Amino acid sequence: MSKFLNLALPAAGGTALVLGGAYGIATSSYGNDRIDVLEANLTAAQAVASAQVAEAGELRTALEALSATTEEQMAALRAEAGAQANAAERQIAALQTQLQTAQAKTSDAPATDAATLVTAAPKPDQGFGLGRTALPEEIAAWDVDVLPDGRGLPEGAGDVWTGEEVFGEKCASCHGDFAEGRDNWPVLAGGFDTLADENPVKTVGSYWPYLSTVWDYVHRSMPFGNAGTLSDDEVYAITAYILFSNDLVGDDFTLSQETFADVTLGNADGFVVDDRAEVEYPQWRAEPCMENCKTAAAQITRRSTDVGVTPADDGSMAESHMEQQLALLGGVEWGKERVAGSVFMGAGGVAEDEPVEEIASLDPPAEAAEAADPALVAQGEKAFRRCKSCHAVGPGAKNKTGPHLNSVFGRTIGGLDGFKYSSAFQSAAEAGRVWDDASIAAFLAKPKSYIDGTKMTFAGLKNEADIAGIIAYLKAISQ
Ligand code: HEC
Ligand code: HEC
Repeated sequence: MSKFLNLALPAAGGTALVLGGAYGIATSSYGNDRIDVLEANLTAAQAVASAQVAEAGELRTALEALSATTEEQMAALRAEAGAQANAAERQIAALQTQLQTAQAKTSDAPATDAATLVTAAPKPDQGFGLGRTALPEEIAAWDVDVLPDGRGLPEGAGDVWTGEEVFGEKCASCHGDFAEGRDNWPVLAGGFDTLADENPVKTVGSYWPYLSTVWDYVHRSMPFGNAGTLSDDEVYAITAYILFSNDLVGDDFTLSQETFADVTLGNADGFVVDDRAEVEYPQWRAEPCMENCKTAAAQITRRSTDVGVTPADDGSMAESHMEQQLALLGGVEWGKERVAGSVFMGAGGVAEDEPVEEIASLDPPAEAAEAADPALVAQGEKAFRRCKSCHAVGPGAKNKTGPHLNSVFGRTIGGLDGFKYSSAFQSAAEAGRVWDDASIAAFLAKPKSYIDGTKMTFAGLKNEADIAGIIAYLKAISQ
């Protein structure tokens, strides 16, 4: 009995599917004759299907009546009912395929009837039967953000002294009594003027642009591991204390909705709106030029043999500049610095049999300069390449990253008008110190040790012959 029911059901299921398809078409609403026809077919098919289902029902009744008859009769009846149900299903499947094809065709076509589109769209409130409208208090619990202008702040107030107490109790274990940070926990105060450093200290005082972020962040997420336990007044008080720790308010300050706008954080102007999408990207999107792009003739500005990475033309390293470099560098702290134009030589060192003698045989700097030995001047000119990116010298030399070096001998240290020296250099200038061979040699050997606080970012020249050479060269070119 139940087996027979199973056979009849797929037919009914198929009908439901077809109905779904028909509804889809109606709502997709690209009114179209073909679809109308198919819809009519469908209705017909549906009628046939229900008739068949009804017929199957009759057969079932008949079967029940015949329940006493032989197994063979039963089987025959079952087969007949099954075949009818299958036929109905096949018919429905074929119609569905036709419908899908028609739908695919019409959905490519432009909408012909906007009004139909609008009216046929499913109503939002029909939904999917999921979820419910949020309650006002649920929205309020989520809606805790505070905006830079103070919108969103709750009622309340807190002063620095209360803040110090609460901070000591709930925050100092990680952030230190004075918000200075304990171990690796974040430091919340200080670090002013370090943002441009290699390792900037980013704190509320040095880095954060808006006070609202401090309030909001503490309110939402601190104390770490116990978020949400602070009262609004406590958050006001703690925020006041963090401001105090950053020298942004006095110890008599009370933070509230009213005083909130009086405080501006140090880095308020440090963030800019990212306009690269409008300003920069279009420039890169231009069609790149892929042929005959360069108009001026090519020029050789530097050779790889100069920087000591390429052997000389005949392939012999002995003739190469590299060889000379190695010789000159004999005995220096090898591998610790970049030599000759940023080629990193790595650890390893100079072969034992390099002619280190050459260094010893060079004249000491002062004498060499006086002698104005052309070879020394030439070596100096070469060594000066490492200075050129920052210093100009010679006729018409202008200040670059560093001051121009014309007539630097006898010149006051930090003495050029119009160049902005470091305060270390300014103090030297005030003290009336003057450049001479010895002081320049000492400065070039280790700039940062010779003038502590100089902004000349240059590690120093390891090679005395280079120093002597540069001195000779600077003198020669200044004449
Ligand atoms: C158990 C240790 C701990 C305690 C207690 C704690 N914090 Fe924090 N705090 C952290 C950690 C860790 C971070 C960094 C979290 C991160 O980056 O995701 C942090 C970050 C912060 C920051 C952001 C720092 C920055 O520059 O990014 C502020 C502000 C802050 N905490 C304030 C507080 C206040 C106020 C309290 C007391 C109510 C407090 N914290 C209690 C561990 C702690
Ligand atoms: C990365 C840039 C840079 C490089 C490379 C550099 N300098 Fe400087 N130099 C400076 C700056 C900047 C100053 C000013 C220092 C200050 O104000 O603290 C300076 C100052 C000097 C001064 C003092 C000038 C004065 O008016 O008092 C001399 C001399 C000098 N540099 C020589 C050299 C030589 C020689 C080299 C190459 C071996 C060199 N510098 C490499 C940037 C550079």
